Amino acid sequence: MSSNDSIGKILKVAFALCIVCSVIVSTAAVVLKPAQEANKSLDRKRNILQAAGMLEPGVSVDEQFKVIEERYVDLRSGQFTDDVPEGYEQRAASKDPALSRDVATDEDIAKVGRQANIAQVYLVRGDDGGYDKIILPVHGYGLWSTLYGFLALESDANTVAGLGFYEHGETPGLGGEVDNPRWKGLWPGKKVYRDGDVELRLLKGSVDPTSANAEWQVDGLAGATLTSRGVSNLITFWMGEDGFAPFLTNLRNGDA
Ligand SMILES: Cc1cc2nc3c(=O)[nH]c(=O)nc-3n(C[C@H](O)[C@H](O)[C@H](O)COP(=O)(O)O)c2cc1C
Repeated sequence: MSSNDSIGKILKVAFALCIVCSVIVSTAAVVLKPAQEANKSLDRKRNILQAAGMLEPGVSVDEQFKVIEERYVDLRSGQFTDDVPEGYEQRAASKDPALSRDVATDEDIAKVGRQANIAQVYLVRGDDGGYDKIILPVHGYGLWSTLYGFLALESDANTVAGLGFYEHGETPGLGGEVDNPRWKGLWPGKKVYRDGDVELRLLKGSVDPTSANAEWQVDGLAGATLTSRGVSNLITFWMGEDGFAPFLTNLRNGDA
């Protein structure tokens, strides 16, 4: 047996290889981290613009995002607040008992579990000083996963400008059709509230355009009744009294 085949030597080479590989992997993770963070931030901005129907292909997302004002809303009072910790992230806050509340099972129709006290909202100011677009983060459980997205409203804080999800684990072709541009195209122009109550929901099947209720209805996803129900539920929750309803009322009254 040559000395290169000795057990000691094989172990030494294997150990050295492990060290080299782990150094390469950890260096790559550290070096790529800022690029990953930048991509995540760009993706969030793209989704916000897309939900508001403002995303223009071929134009820098960062450039387009300059018209968007990022603000914080205390969901308990329905008022804007600046009293947020540095680098505040609503999703992370919803897991922190100091920054969130436990949602009681009987009111938790969207199955959020915990709800952050402060929400990050996005606004586009109009020429008259009011808001042309109000873009609100929403999330809730579908069939297999929590769907995270944005619901954008027009200046009346009632008419839908658009809806889009940036993260979910529903089945492609079934619940995953929430990402289908044709389905997303059904949302603009729909209304959330009727006489103060959240009325907007998905139907099982198609909306009858001649129905008096058509403005508050969107086609359900074919073969995905459970995901569709999840989307209806998350809208009912986030647009309701435990969600953004107090804030939207204040905003309409110029009191936020
Ligand atoms: C592999 C598999 C994946 C499914 N994925 C979904 C899904 O993502 N969303 C959903 O609502 N239903 C999904 N379903 C169907 C549900 O189990 C259920 O049958 C359906 O929601 C009922 O909808 P329908 O009444 O429109 O047929 C899936 C079923 C199978 C077998």
